[in-house]
Amino acid sequence: MSNEVYALDMQKVSKRFPGTLAVDQVDFRVKKGEVHALMGENGAGKSTLMKMLNGLFNDYTGDIYINGEKKLLHSPSLAKEAGIGMVYQELSLARRISIYENLLVGRLPKKNALFIDKKKAIEESKKLLARVGLDYIDPTKDISEISQCEAQLVEIAKVLGFNPSIIVMDEPTSALSSEEVNRLYGIIRQLKAEGLAIVYISHHLAEIFEIADNVTVMRDGKLVGSLPVTETNPDHLVEMMVGTPVQNFYKDHETKIQDEVVLSAHDFTRWGFFHHVDFELHKGEVLAICGLAGAGRTEIARGLIGVDKTDGGTVKIHGKEVHFKNFGEAIANGLGYLTEDRKVVGLALNQTVADNVTTCIIDKYSKGILFKPSSLNNLVDEKINEMSVYPADRNRLVGSFSGGNQQKVLMAKWLASEVDILILDEPTRGVDVNAKQVIHNVVKNYVSKGNSVILLSSDLPEVVGLADRAVILREGHIIGEIQKKDMTENSILMAANGEGEFVKCQK
Ligand SMILES: Nc1ncnc2c1ncn2[C@@H]1O[C@H](COP(=O)(O)OP(=O)(O)OP(=O)(O)O)[C@@H](O)[C@H]1O
Ligand SMILES: [Mg+2]
Repeated sequence: MSNEVYALDMQKVSKRFPGTLAVDQVDFRVKKGEVHALMGENGAGKSTLMKMLNGLFNDYTGDIYINGEKKLLHSPSLAKEAGIGMVYQELSLARRISIYENLLVGRLPKKNALFIDKKKAIEESKKLLARVGLDYIDPTKDISEISQCEAQLVEIAKVLGFNPSIIVMDEPTSALSSEEVNRLYGIIRQLKAEGLAIVYISHHLAEIFEIADNVTVMRDGKLVGSLPVTETNPDHLVEMMVGTPVQNFYKDHETKIQDEVVLSAHDFTRWGFFHHVDFELHKGEVLAICGLAGAGRTEIARGLIGVDKTDGGTVKIHGKEVHFKNFGEAIANGLGYLTEDRKVVGLALNQTVADNVTTCIIDKYSKGILFKPSSLNNLVDEKINEMSVYPADRNRLVGSFSGGNQQKVLMAKWLASEVDILILDEPTRGVDVNAKQVIHNVVKNYVSKGNSVILLSSDLPEVVGLADRAVILREGHIIGEIQKKDMTENSILMAANGEGEFVKCQK
């Protein structure tokens, strides 16, 4: 063994939850100035290992050394003192308070015992924002007034405020578009140059080869191996993660698109967000709406389902004009929406899987005279099996599932909800290679039964693999469309930038 001092050296660490050995005798080492990727399937134990480091458990076993010193990380404050900074999988910022209050939470400078020294707080905040390239942002704004990417960077700035020597990013790019990811890379490289040790959790292989120096793979709570990225390749990493080689990711599927239009939008407008949007969705079709981040995809979805007010145009479902005043009305009319933000509007984390999966149908079922709770349980079991939710326990609280498994529960909820049109907004965010395949198969199966899907995804291979047709949205306008036969990652990306060959709209 070399006598080099590691920024982080975890030796034979374990953490048990009731019934699960989530982390099992894992060794994990990171040097100063190194970006170390941590990979593994959903539920492999990555987040648990990092939560351990962040002081969330007082019952882990094994030893943790920080810069050569043994530390007992039994509380978040001890972890903070030891120099650990954690950027979580889901944003932890409070949306309705100002950026500077978020940045300096718990340590706002005081003028005297009572009053906050706002001037000082703003100065301090500006310095932190500058470290993540956000010097142009006014720290007195609310978090809700900046983009999700900027919020993610504010989150990093907040962590930097504690002067960590180790910074952990748990799926930091899951909410970012590709341009934004590049921006994040720039910041990571800078932190690396400053000598920080960075742990980077991601399911995206390409990111690992772009940004990481070394990679560690976990499976079923155990360490599979650690190696320099120059000594591995994507196939090899996948094999390490799942234990067997995975091939043929996107098999062509037979489509059964029918002429019948199930949903149409005409002249659909929300000023400032999307304008004069026209499209038709057919029975049995997967229609992608593609565009760069900020093009207005999620806004269109929110307009369709009645959660945002729109300014004009018509939307028809099965030929009937609809004006949904809320999401409940949309669901009642057969239109569901799998949100890109599962924690805020998608799932109730403190409720069980069964409660979550049946939220949209419970009223309808429980009103029936012949209602039997057991039949609903069977339905829940069927859906969670179809989605390979792990563990397949309908009575478990959703909050205790790994991130990727939460996403599968969310999909199970929509499968159970009996809607025939589903808008899927980033449906595979945070899920591993196998789970992604499960979700894709479920989508194909869903449309093959005569249902229809609107797909919003920034994962281009996913769009190419799943969509029958793509309409291109640019700055709130639909500028054209691409048929399946012409669809490649490149043709979509070019079109989203207004370039290349695609069938342009007349307007
Ligand atoms: N609070 C908890 N209570 C009980 N079990 C838990 C809890 N948190 C995690 N687990 C279990 O521990 C195991 C590891 O979960 P963890 O969240 O660390 O996985 P992960 O590798 O981060 O997965 P993902 O890629 O889906 O985020 C899983 O089996 C999970 O169900
Ligand atoms: Mg996780």
